[in-house]
Amino acid sequence: MENYSFPASFAWGAATAAYQVEGGWDADGKGPSVWDTFTHQGGDRVFKNQTGDVACGSYTLWEEDLKCIKQLGLTHYRFSLSWSRLLPDGTTGFINQKGIEYYNKVINSLLENNIIPMVTLYHFDMPQAVKDLGGWSSEKTVDIFEQYARFCYETFGDRVKLWITINEPYVMARFAYEDGSFAPGKKQPGYGAYQAGHNMLLAHAKAWHNYNTHFKKQQNGAVSIVLCSDWAEPFDPSSAVDKEATERYLAFYLDWFAKPVFIDGDYPASMKLKISENSKKEGLKTSRLPEFTEEEKALIKGTADFFCLNYYTSRKIKHSTVASEEPSFISDRSVEDIKDPDWPQCAPDWLAVVPWGLRKLLKYIKETFNNPAIYITENGFGQDDPPKLEDIQRWKYFEETLKEISKAINTDGVNVKGYLVWSLIDNFEWIHGYNVRFGLFHVDYDQATLPRTPYLSALKYSNVVKKNGLGG
Ligand code: NOJ
Repeated sequence: MENYSFPASFAWGAATAAYQVEGGWDADGKGPSVWDTFTHQGGDRVFKNQTGDVACGSYTLWEEDLKCIKQLGLTHYRFSLSWSRLLPDGTTGFINQKGIEYYNKVINSLLENNIIPMVTLYHFDMPQAVKDLGGWSSEKTVDIFEQYARFCYETFGDRVKLWITINEPYVMARFAYEDGSFAPGKKQPGYGAYQAGHNMLLAHAKAWHNYNTHFKKQQNGAVSIVLCSDWAEPFDPSSAVDKEATERYLAFYLDWFAKPVFIDGDYPASMKLKISENSKKEGLKTSRLPEFTEEEKALIKGTADFFCLNYYTSRKIKHSTVASEEPSFISDRSVEDIKDPDWPQCAPDWLAVVPWGLRKLLKYIKETFNNPAIYITENGFGQDDPPKLEDIQRWKYFEETLKEISKAINTDGVNVKGYLVWSLIDNFEWIHGYNVRFGLFHVDYDQATLPRTPYLSALKYSNVVKKNGLGG
């Protein structure tokens, strides 16, 4: 068997996010988040109107999660803080001590077990009170987020050394502020995503600088942002327009956030051009894509100490000339993205399993963003409910993916530092509710104790972690 090796200090982990696992939505003084409001409103925007009120009960069952982490032998555990559990109205004006105690318990028990915490400050669950002030549509949120970040560095930074400011700004911008399918459900076609993305970039940059200026010297940690992207290939490799469309697909996806942060503080040229051309056609005097001032560009440039990538799938891209009736992110991008029918499919419906796409994406990041240190902060394969405990097919995909990562490291020279599976346990998969299961551990939602049981993939993954690779 070929030896797919990994570097000696490789980080092996799994990830979760507060709203998806914690439950305890109003326990011990927690304030509501936009996901609490959104799911409580019903309206079939989430599968069977399910909510995260109880989820996996991690707020009270944290020790059960810790057992799973230990059983896997992980070196790293990525989780997020519930902003409104710590600051019920989103601001530091009122601090919820019980929230601090909960996360202290989580962080301390990880460290006692030699597991490194990787902490996301914001994973889709903005406090409702911050949304009421405008959320990511408002510049006010930039400073509010910086204050929240500062509070977290002060409170947990003596022990947390790996910080992530924002998880997947692309998903928030597009689905929470443009088409409205995610909380807070704002439907603002043509500008909502750009405005939200703009404010998230500024908020991230300020949170990074806050750490760098006030905490870096004494706490010696590192701060980044988690970006997601598909890999993309032209549908017809001999077509110039398909090739351009493929570049545009990546520009409007990964580069939208990665170029400002890792290169020059500004958006990709092709994105600026497309949106301003379309805005002109619509008779607007200025582009629907906001502009950064020179100071803002300088503020944003270079604000990540490592690169965090969430990778799930790949697409074949065709140039599209079909304009939608109203201006929108989709019509600006002018691409048609296609799932190749030959690619295996898992749950949810958007997820075609394309392990080799990850290797290509890693190489693209190396070449485009100055060979950064990369953590794959999420990668996973969902199962429809009811799932198979003997998830042989799923493990096969994990194995293929790990081989591709090993090749990226050993053959392409990509500086991959770690790999974290999404997710440690089955959980609330946003609009799919509990109907899609991404866990390494099964959660039985029908039993009050919400027992966790390993899937076959968990047992296999623990072997990889132990051996630091697939071979041998
Ligand atoms: C990425 C998101 O960060 C996570 O919350 C979600 O569950 C997974 N994708 C799977 O869709």
